[in-house]
Amino acid sequence: MTVDLDTIMAWAKRNGFVYPGSDIYDGLANAWDMWPYGTLLKKNIEKLWWQEFQQKRDDMLALDAQIFMDSKVWKASGHLDDFSDPLIDCKNCNNRQRVDKMIEAIMEKLRKEKTDEQIQKDFSDMLGVDNLVPESWTHEQMLDAMDKLDINCPVCGANDWTEIREFKLMFETHQGVIKDESTKVYLRPETAQWIFVNFKNVLDTTRQQLPFGIAQTGKAFRNEITPGKFLFRPREFEQMEIEYFVKPWNEDERLEKWKDLSQKWWIETIGINPENIKFRQQDKDELAHYSTGTYDVEYNFPWGWDELQWVASRTDFDLNAHMEDSDTDLRYTDPYTGKKYTPYVIEPSWGLTRAVCAAMFDAYEDETYEDNRWNEKQRTVLHFDKKIAPIKFAIFPLSKKKDEIVDIAKEINQKLSQKYQCKLDMKGSIGKRYRRQDEIWTPFCITVDFDSIEDGSVTIRDRDSMKQIRVQPEELEEFMEDRQVV
Ligand code: GAP
Repeated sequence: MTVDLDTIMAWAKRNGFVYPGSDIYDGLANAWDMWPYGTLLKKNIEKLWWQEFQQKRDDMLALDAQIFMDSKVWKASGHLDDFSDPLIDCKNCNNRQRVDKMIEAIMEKLRKEKTDEQIQKDFSDMLGVDNLVPESWTHEQMLDAMDKLDINCPVCGANDWTEIREFKLMFETHQGVIKDESTKVYLRPETAQWIFVNFKNVLDTTRQQLPFGIAQTGKAFRNEITPGKFLFRPREFEQMEIEYFVKPWNEDERLEKWKDLSQKWWIETIGINPENIKFRQQDKDELAHYSTGTYDVEYNFPWGWDELQWVASRTDFDLNAHMEDSDTDLRYTDPYTGKKYTPYVIEPSWGLTRAVCAAMFDAYEDETYEDNRWNEKQRTVLHFDKKIAPIKFAIFPLSKKKDEIVDIAKEINQKLSQKYQCKLDMKGSIGKRYRRQDEIWTPFCITVDFDSIEDGSVTIRDRDSMKQIRVQPEELEEFMEDRQVV
């Protein structure tokens, strides 16, 4: 990874991809608005996800649920009681920190000198813990670690901490005019729960047989204690989630299958550089209590490997929890044997906002090249996959004073826009227009010149190779098909 966070943020703002939220009022912290090209980029990624995982399959149903759900949903799912982070305050300067993250930071430093086995042994001797996942430790174990590892306040350097308190991550509000416990609702922290809650309704109306999946995309909200890193961890973000229901006895095989499908999608469909993505199987002590196996899909961000997606085998935990709390039978009846059972579920869960973030890092390059007079030049260019590029074709009339040229350019723009996202760009020299399009990812620029008036031919310039070819009007469609422009 060569590009840093500040460069990407400046690029995204300069080029109309992402802008700070509520900017004219000095900005709302950790809020980001998608601007014209960012919106198109996000929609392209989402469209490719729906195509791959829903449209092309006959075992996947598409759904779109409400953001507000009954509080009982979150009680049953465990979010009301457990979806929280351990916080601690410095008594000297009131700075607030996540305890588990401070301990993890120490472990990360130790990893430069020791193996995980050695660190595990040291921690086990020192604290009596049996894993290296502080999030799963008790408050006493975390406080003990803070003390024995001599963790000071990163702001004032003092070593005087309060007790640990659990901070709930769900945003709450009230529905209707009365504000009391009975009207309390939560903004969903994940899109997935609706799928479990409506499992029976879906089964009743579709008569789908196992295995099958339910997919949905949409906004989720978490009152993150340590938001930041641009689009990586805002408090409002989008997810793309699938719950894939399977017979209880083949979940391991299905987990591997969904890991492979996810890998294929990231690399072949989205075009992420395979060197920048890895599929890490969680150790037994990292697994959530309901999971029999989980892959963390991680991207090589400038700050290190960090989560993009997860693929988890969630057993029958969620359906059983909702079955118990709602007193509704959510079991599946085998159509051949009549036997009833609770299906298991594989959950591949992607962050759409994080996918946009990773795609930007992956595509961005400050490149040195030689122009046709062998002069060394610099350009910022967003390389790689044209499938997710916001604009597919930029159309340039060579001269805006020559009506015939402008008319042909407008006609091409009009025609191509029926199928592709295009941009008619009339301002500045052709060189400047190329640079502008390179910087916003556009794979092809079409220039209409004086010869175009004679025979309708145009020049098409390829963003990556910067090579130009002359194409006759009747060859345009073939050109796009050959290059698989979508
Ligand atoms: N239903 C399972 C679930 O929500 P998760 O690991 O908490 O699991 C899934 O979230 C994905 O959602 C993550 O891999 C990440 O891509 C995305 N995500 C989670 N919190 C996020 C945040 N604050 N900002 C952006 N994306 C987030």
